[in-house]
Amino acid sequence: MAEKPVLVSGVKPTGDLHIGNYFGAMRQFVELTRKGEYRPFIFVADYHALNTMQDAEEMRRRIREIVMAYLAIGLDPEQVVFFKQSDVPAHTELCWIFDTITTMPYLMRAHAFKDAEAKNKEINVGTFNYPMLMAADILLYDAKVVPVGADQKQHIEITRDTAEKFNRIFKEEVFTLPEPYIMPEVATVPGTDGQKMSKSYGNVIPLFASRDELHKRVMSIVTDSSGGRPENVYAIHKLVRSENELETIYQENEGNYKALKELLVEDLDAYFAPIRAEYEELAKDDSIVDAILAKGKQEARALSEAKMGLVRGAIGVA
Ligand code: TYM
Repeated sequence: MAEKPVLVSGVKPTGDLHIGNYFGAMRQFVELTRKGEYRPFIFVADYHALNTMQDAEEMRRRIREIVMAYLAIGLDPEQVVFFKQSDVPAHTELCWIFDTITTMPYLMRAHAFKDAEAKNKEINVGTFNYPMLMAADILLYDAKVVPVGADQKQHIEITRDTAEKFNRIFKEEVFTLPEPYIMPEVATVPGTDGQKMSKSYGNVIPLFASRDELHKRVMSIVTDSSGGRPENVYAIHKLVRSENELETIYQENEGNYKALKELLVEDLDAYFAPIRAEYEELAKDDSIVDAILAKGKQEARALSEAKMGLVRGAIGVA
């Protein structure tokens, strides 16, 4: 029997997870793994997070939060290899090898780098190099499918270029070319100000917000005063309720932004309540996350080491 295609994806443990992460990527992890058609590897991108989050206490806490979130949304640890990027040394080793075959001008064209530069930040080498570590994450496991939001599309393209370049230089088909899996309707989930929902824009609705928190965030959604349908409210609302139902509701409440926002709070709260309850349950017992990460570490290390054997052979150090 042919092996199932590999699915790889990860989330950075920086800041609270938000519903953009959920609808844009994490929900697809669940749907795709439930189908049983893929061999899924889902990880916590902690070394990527280190670029911006340099606080040990926070790092430890947020790593656990991501694993609990993965479980709470319905990923099954029996079906998925869950691991922490930092538990698998092959990621950083392969990143170095990719560094040596990639040019600076090529990486300078990356959107994330250009955005960081435009903000006039003192960019660290890790941020510049981010796409190489991401290429290693994906290529180590021969991923065919990478479920992500639209903001990661260029990173997958860079990953494909890097795989092709390596195979060409070292004259061996060591790496498989992955495809992004981006759902068009949730490719870019908007935040409370209508821009892409993003921790760095301060416009998020947290995935595990309490009802009070939800209320606060929803009331802050920017609405223009020109009457009719409040587009920023509607854009978030359609993630949790069918557009058929919403058409009628928004017509009946035309111009009544307060009522529509109250209803959005209700709907978000009802939609995420079971996930929140599951998360709170998991938070009671640290050993669950520990056991999952220990198992994932073993599995991911074994597989990635086998791949590194081929890589080291191809480049001539073994
Ligand atoms: P991160 O941690 O920023 O985000 C996790 C996932 O959530 C998606 N996402 C969104 N989707 C739609 N609308 C939004 N507003 C929105 N905001 C975030 C992101 O596209 C992402 O899929 N570089 C990655 C982490 C990573 C990774 C990987 C992913 C590291 N290595 C290998 C896949 C494969 C990142 O920063 O995601």
